[in-house]
Amino acid sequence: MTKPYVFITRKLSDEAIQPLQEIAEVNMWNEEEKAVPREVLMEEVKKADAILTMLSDKIDKELMDTAPNLKVIANLAVGFDNIDVAYATEKGIAVCNTPDVLTDTTADLTFGLLLSTARRLVEAAEFVKNGEWKSWSPLLLAGHDIHHKTIGIVGMGKIGEAVAKRATGFDMEILYHNRSRNHSAEKRLGAIYTSFDDLISTSDFIVCLTPLTEQTKNLFTAESFKKMKKTAIFVNVSRGPVVDEDALYHALLNGEIAGAGLDVFVKEPIESNHPFLGLKNVVALPHIGSASTETRVTMMHLCCQNIELVLTNQNPKTLVNK
Ligand code: DGY
Repeated sequence: MTKPYVFITRKLSDEAIQPLQEIAEVNMWNEEEKAVPREVLMEEVKKADAILTMLSDKIDKELMDTAPNLKVIANLAVGFDNIDVAYATEKGIAVCNTPDVLTDTTADLTFGLLLSTARRLVEAAEFVKNGEWKSWSPLLLAGHDIHHKTIGIVGMGKIGEAVAKRATGFDMEILYHNRSRNHSAEKRLGAIYTSFDDLISTSDFIVCLTPLTEQTKNLFTAESFKKMKKTAIFVNVSRGPVVDEDALYHALLNGEIAGAGLDVFVKEPIESNHPFLGLKNVVALPHIGSASTETRVTMMHLCCQNIELVLTNQNPKTLVNK
C-alpha cells in the first residue's frame, strides 16, 4: 500500500516530523525564512493527503479545488483566518490549529510588548547602543507607569485571560470586551465586562487579542482612536486587519494616543519604509507572539499529531471545523 503524501510549507526540524515519516511520505519546502511560492503549493496540493501550513499561506477555494485527496490542513498557529474553513468543511477537509500550547508564550509576549511600549525600552536600548547617553537626567526617556492603571482587553479568550492574569501582578484594573462573557476571568481575576466604547475610552492600555473575522475586520477605526485617552497605549497581538492602520498612524502622529505596540500588520512583513517605523512611539515586532523555541516545537508536534490522527481515521486533537 502506498503511504499518504504530506506537504509541509516551511522547513521544520527533522525531529518534529520524524514520527509522521513513519506513516507518510513527507515532503517539506526547504526554506526556513521564505514562504513557499503559491505555484509550488498549487502543484503540491494536487497529490497531497495532508498539508501542514503557516499563517502566511493562503488556503482558499482555488487551492482546495486542485486537491482531490486532501483530508487535513494543520495550521501552525492558533489563528486560522488564512484558511477558508467554511469551504474546507463543505469539502470534508479537516482544519486543525494549535490552541492552548501557545497561550502563556503569547501572553508573555503581549505583556512584554505592553511594557516595552509604555516604558520605551526599545528606544532606551537604542539610545545607549548609539552612544547617545551623556548624563543621567530626571526625565530622560521617561515613560508611562503600568502598575495600578487600567488594562482593557478586547478578545477575552484563553490568551486574553492569561494576559489578564499577568495584569493582576501589576495591580491593574482589568476591563474586557468579548463576544460572550468570560465568567472564569471575572471570577478568578476580577475582570469587568465592558462595552467596546467604554473600554476604549477609559483604559490606559487597550490590548487587542480578538481573532480576525468578518465582524472584527477594521474594528479599530479613526473614531475608536479619537475616543481613547491621549495617554492611551494600543497593543495589537491578534491580526493586522483588525485595525485601520492609516487611522492608527494618524492617531499616533497627531497625539490622539500616546503609543502603540504592534506584533501584527495588515501586510506582513511590513516594508522597511512603512510609516509606522518612522514613529518613535511605535514598537514594531515581526509577528512573534508564540515564538519561543519550546512553544514552536510543541506546535510543530501538535500539527504532526493532528495529521497522523486524521490519516489513520481518528479524531484530531484540535479541530477547527464546526
Ligand atoms: C497565532 O498562532 O495565531 C499567532 O499569531 C502566532 O504568533
